[in-house]
Amino acid sequence: MQFSTTRFPEITSASQTVPKFGAELPALTSLLSTATPTDRPRSLLITHVLDTAVAYIEAVNTIFPVASVVAIPYSASPRAVETLRTKGFNVVVPATIADTFTESEDQVISALKASQQPLLVQEVGGYLAKASARLASFAHFLGVVEDTNNGHWLYENTSPHPIPVLSMAQSPLKAVEDSIIGDAVLFSIERVLREEFAAICQGLRSAVIGFGKIGRSTAVALKGREAVVSIYDINPAKNMSAKVEGFFPMPLHQLLQESDLVVGCTGQTSIRLVDMPFLKDGAILASASSKAVEFALSDFERECRVEKFSDVVWRFTQPNGKRFYLLSKGTPINFRDGSILGTILDMIYCELFVCMREVAAKRAPVGLSKSPPAIQDEVAKAWLKAHSEDFLKALDDKVWDYPESLKLGAPK
Ligand SMILES: NC(=O)c1ccc[n+]([C@@H]2O[C@H](COP(=O)([O-])OP(=O)(O)OC[C@H]3O[C@@H](n4cnc5c(N)ncnc54)[C@H](O)[C@@H]3O)[C@@H](O)[C@H]2O)c1
Repeated sequence: MQFSTTRFPEITSASQTVPKFGAELPALTSLLSTATPTDRPRSLLITHVLDTAVAYIEAVNTIFPVASVVAIPYSASPRAVETLRTKGFNVVVPATIADTFTESEDQVISALKASQQPLLVQEVGGYLAKASARLASFAHFLGVVEDTNNGHWLYENTSPHPIPVLSMAQSPLKAVEDSIIGDAVLFSIERVLREEFAAICQGLRSAVIGFGKIGRSTAVALKGREAVVSIYDINPAKNMSAKVEGFFPMPLHQLLQESDLVVGCTGQTSIRLVDMPFLKDGAILASASSKAVEFALSDFERECRVEKFSDVVWRFTQPNGKRFYLLSKGTPINFRDGSILGTILDMIYCELFVCMREVAAKRAPVGLSKSPPAIQDEVAKAWLKAHSEDFLKALDDKVWDYPESLKLGAPK
């Protein structure tokens, strides 16, 4: 038998830079010039600073000079933070999620006081939801662009807002991203299962709590790895949908008693203290939602003995002696591994940018509003041009005149 004699090069420090893959944003680049030169305020970003965010932040900076970046603590890649700081960006990394609320408000107020130049914010999680009245007192504050459902709900619950809050959280394009989040969640869970528990997904009794966009995507991903997937959603109709998609909906406490893995996908506190005794001995809890809201952690910590097993696993021992494991301190597990990558990121960044452009040009209404279909059409067309050579070659296709072209097919 002949063995390969290939000599693979060692890693050099030059190759340890931020990866290029996933960081190229051709669609976003094509849209940058759509911001009119007169509407180019400063920006402040409260965002996930993963390695893939560096190119986005640099692109935004060329149009809306970035006053500061507040990095969400659980998704702040030290390498990306360092890279941005080296490039001259002011990057703040709060210690905790609670600190992120106060730090975000403080950073925005400081930026507003430091200069009379207009300022807008792009954020991911409603970190300014309770500060809108204070921000409205600055005439040169233009408004907020929100990315996530969790943030959207926070703005909704604290409405009305005297500033424009343009949310893309519920846009059909965001739903495209949501449909692949489950794969990212599963990738990270599977890595932890293999590395920390010497376990695999196949045959694992799994509970997905919440059968919305993220829950469905997670359930589909788990099923694809031959896990046994059961569902619980507080909304009866969602249990019905789960049933006809081949999952097993069941009452929460029965589900917890039977499940080795519990993935919270609701964006709410879905597992409360009253539910804790029903967790199966040895169950693993992971969150796919936002911040650390999914499990009633402060109640669990008060009632249980907590031991740190590794950087990702904490073991909780209940008063009744039963144990469960919590991954990533209850923060969304997929951020351990860069969450989503590739061309879909370009689409998300495009919609965020176009929303920022609308806020910059004062075209977004005061109060919470959703990004309109015209924005999604513009973004989708830019994305198709940048990422599909076939469509790029077919410039006479009806897709480019959508939605006007719909009329071509209207019954006579
Ligand atoms: N991990 C990530 O990268 C990522 C990406 C996008 C969104 N998110 C977050 O995921 C969360 C869910 O977002 P979504 O878009 O799927 O929302 P969604 O509204 O589509 O789905 C949420 C589902 O949870 C159900 N639900 C609510 N409270 C519940 C409870 N107490 N018990 C059981 N079910 C309950 C709802 O009925 C709904 O079906 C949000 O916090 C969102 O911000 C995370």
